[in-house]
Amino acid sequence: MSSFQQDPICVLKFGSSVLRSEADLPAAVHSIYAEFRLGKRVLVVASALGSTTDDLLAQAQAISPKPSPRELAKLLATGESASAALLSLALKRAGVRSRLIGPEEIGLVAEGGHLDAHPVALDSEAIRREFELAPVLVLPGFIARRPDGDLALFGRGGSDLTAIFVAGKLQQELGETRCVLVKDVQGLFEWDPARVTEGPPRRYAQCSYADALQLSGAVVQHKAIRLARESGLSFEVGSASTLGSDPATADAEALQPTRVGPASSILSARSPIRYTRLRVGLAGHGTVGSGVLQHLLDSSDDFDVSGVLVRNLQKHRLLLEESGDYDPEQFDRLFTDDVEQFFNRPLDVFVELIGGEQPASEWIERAFDAGLDVVSANKALIAKHGKRLQTQADGRRCLFHYSAAVGGSTPLLEAAKRLQGQGVRGFEGVLNGTTNFILDALAGGTSLQDAIRQAQELGYAEADPSLDLDGTDARQKAELIARELYGSEVLLRWGEQVGVAEIPHKLFGEANAAQGVVRLVASCYLEQDSEDQAGPPRVSLQVGPVVLPASHPLSRISGAGGGAVFDLGGPGWARVFLEGEAAGRWPTAEAVLADLFELRRSAGCRGAQSSTKR
Ligand code: NAP
Ligand code: HSE
Repeated sequence: MSSFQQDPICVLKFGSSVLRSEADLPAAVHSIYAEFRLGKRVLVVASALGSTTDDLLAQAQAISPKPSPRELAKLLATGESASAALLSLALKRAGVRSRLIGPEEIGLVAEGGHLDAHPVALDSEAIRREFELAPVLVLPGFIARRPDGDLALFGRGGSDLTAIFVAGKLQQELGETRCVLVKDVQGLFEWDPARVTEGPPRRYAQCSYADALQLSGAVVQHKAIRLARESGLSFEVGSASTLGSDPATADAEALQPTRVGPASSILSARSPIRYTRLRVGLAGHGTVGSGVLQHLLDSSDDFDVSGVLVRNLQKHRLLLEESGDYDPEQFDRLFTDDVEQFFNRPLDVFVELIGGEQPASEWIERAFDAGLDVVSANKALIAKHGKRLQTQADGRRCLFHYSAAVGGSTPLLEAAKRLQGQGVRGFEGVLNGTTNFILDALAGGTSLQDAIRQAQELGYAEADPSLDLDGTDARQKAELIARELYGSEVLLRWGEQVGVAEIPHKLFGEANAAQGVVRLVASCYLEQDSEDQAGPPRVSLQVGPVVLPASHPLSRISGAGGGAVFDLGGPGWARVFLEGEAAGRWPTAEAVLADLFELRRSAGCRGAQSSTKR
């Protein structure tokens, strides 16, 4: 059983106001990933990019002032189809397991005219099956099939209708479903905030269907609101910055999207939050650091990069020149090799992406001393000093996030945290992308030296690749997962640690004969008497190459992928399985960005409660 078969569903619809061009796709990926790592199955509904629909309409009208509705529907549908496909590619680049689906695959049927149809049927079971294959599905909005097989469109703003129809059906047939229409506004307002002559409008914390239908400007398609009212579905409207916090636990009302439903409207007394951008200092501009920097520069509404600390300025100047990304003014403003100067810049968050123990540890401590929050991807450091650093962070009321230290964009630490206290007996994981990539290459006949070189070129390997090869990296990650599952006091008893550097070739023959694969598996199990005895839990851990039968979920992890199976106690030994890309620039940068967005939301909350430390 995969974890996502039981996870609550979130339908996220991205409108053209937030998908203005391809440049907005990474931001949409950040929002989707934020919900996914909260443990949701996410069904994304994509609108066409920016003005695509208008442009296509104009093209059609240039040929024929009254285009045939059937042909026009097919033409306009290409806008949403292209946008959904591009978004799906962007998710895959970030290492998120996602699948592009279309109306025909999920039985989304509509009746009526080709250009203004209404939805009548959906095969929820088909969606459930799609979710078995991937936790994130991407569906073009606005489009359905008519019973005669033609394409039908839902009219202007029709992606809202897609999202609300699909969410309503899933809620009825598959259980708890949240539906959020992501727009370029923080929710519904009394009037359009752009109408400055009327003063600042109040924001609806909650808005009745009737009031939502009265609002001018049709922020939400009226047909969609009426359908929600008929089916009793409550939905939410908000900007990307209102996503990613769990509504069940988030306490800052102003951070939540507006909820539209049957209840009476409530206007918020607070003025809408004006987020201040987080000032970020980044140490390291290697595989991960350069990806994070690019995302931060592309998220300038949310983050202000104060500095990038590197060892050798000239090396990075040349690298940027070679890649065509060199901007002399920006480089001189951001990059420095002077530690003192770097820490004297205005900072809210320190992001450590240099790896190794020192000076990473010293700099993180320095950041906490200065009251900064910290994000790191450094499992070697955190496995060894994480407890001490966390204590220091707590003492200074600072936040310390390190999701990227384990699993790239496969949120294994978050999954382990959610499973804490739920009787998990242990886990088995493929936790090192480099060795998984190497094992696949060796099985395909590549030499070990060539496979290592390729893994280094692709940015998977550690600066010292022997940490990957001898199983140390997998071991460090297993320790971090064990601490999330069983608490920081857990006693870790290490058994064998075997890597792949001297892997016997006969193992591949055995795997072939058994139609299985060789994988480097880290396993961790609670010791038998651990639960009966007082004191912290005790677990036994080991790392080594094993032949896995094709039926084992970890056997399907290929390339630089990673994942883990958690064994839950109780009847049937239910298994929770999570997989994705475990290494590489974009998957790791995605996890770092998710931590940064979480800090930004909590800074917003601290600001909203006027207890900000800044
Ligand atoms: P990398 O490509 O080797 O980059 C490290 C960067 O840190 C380089 O820019 C390096 O500068 C800089 N650096 C190292 N020591 C420094 C010092 N003393 N002062 C200033 N700069 C220093 O490493 P990476 O792959 O990006 O990994 C960074 C961290 O992320 C590591 O902790 C790693 O374990 C973790 N991580 C990596 C991945 C991955 O797939 N690569 C995945 C998850 C986690 P120079 O270029 O000048 O040497
Ligand atoms: N070197 C690590 C790996 C990077 O290959 O898994 C991701 O943590």
